[in-house]
Amino acid sequence: MAIERVVDTSIHEDDSDEKIVEISLRPTTFSEYIGQRRLKTNLKLAIDAAKKRGDVMDHVLLYGPPGLGKTTMAGVIAHEMNANFRATAAPSIEKAGDLASILTNLADGDILFIDEIHRLRRAVEEILYSAMEDYKLDIVIGKGPAARSVKLDLPRFTLIGATTQTGNLAAPLRDRFGHAFRLEYYANNDIRQIIERSAKILDTKIEPAAADLLAQRARLTPRIANRLLKRVRDYADVNGDGIIDTAIAHDALRMLEIDELGLDPADRNMLTLMIEKYGDKPVGLNTIAALTGDEASTIEDYYEPFLMQLGMIQRTPRGRVVTDLAKKHLGLA
Ligand code: ADE
Repeated sequence: MAIERVVDTSIHEDDSDEKIVEISLRPTTFSEYIGQRRLKTNLKLAIDAAKKRGDVMDHVLLYGPPGLGKTTMAGVIAHEMNANFRATAAPSIEKAGDLASILTNLADGDILFIDEIHRLRRAVEEILYSAMEDYKLDIVIGKGPAARSVKLDLPRFTLIGATTQTGNLAAPLRDRFGHAFRLEYYANNDIRQIIERSAKILDTKIEPAAADLLAQRARLTPRIANRLLKRVRDYADVNGDGIIDTAIAHDALRMLEIDELGLDPADRNMLTLMIEKYGDKPVGLNTIAALTGDEASTIEDYYEPFLMQLGMIQRTPRGRVVTDLAKKHLGLA
């Protein structure tokens, strides 16, 4: 069985903005958005140019590991363009007709955000090609002899697609994005600033050294930083006076079993199993998934990217190899 993880980069219920009524940790403007400087510079230019021309922005593809702020950035773009933001995710678009309905309900200048765009079904994806290229909907209605092709004009819109896996994106789709940007892991200092900003919004006092400590263990990922902050805030409310100092932060992190590098029991379990069963030999993705009881895509999207960033796992053509660094970290060298 998969273990519940605080450092999970998938979206949890407690990340939703509704849960903390009326309070959102998500920045809505470029000036509030910390980090990703290169991305912001490029996007600002594209937005300013589109505004100056009085046109919509070219379609944007945002890619990179989960939790780094792709959805947030899409919302910022919409806000900065003064455009409506319509968000959906590929797995919820089941049929070509579902996408046709979304597209025909757009207004001129709208921003359509599709998360996990690599998971669009083929028949749905094909509808997007002419929609993106010519703002035309080209769809077949009916089946067999009664089937007929319908062409409709669509409003001029901007598609923002987000994916963790550009490799899995069909070339015709990828090529239709005018911009493609990779979101990078954040600098430690940026994560610390995000924690301090979020603490302020949550009306929680956190000492600078405690913010540093949380930042070191947040896997360079804002979603994890914010989640850690909330869990440590709970701990401070119950076991202290609500103020997060280093003692409270240390105790809470120990309880959560998050180590100095931000690894949790699930990471350590996976690495340990790989070392114990396969030593220095490469291990295939499906084998790792079988070892931990997770889906292969979970390993690929949620465990691997940060472990590779740390240099604990290497990808080779024959599978994944655990490095000496990981063995040392786990005391298994
Ligand atoms: N919250 C989550 N991501 C953020 C970011 N990049 N900047 C500011 N606050 C955030």
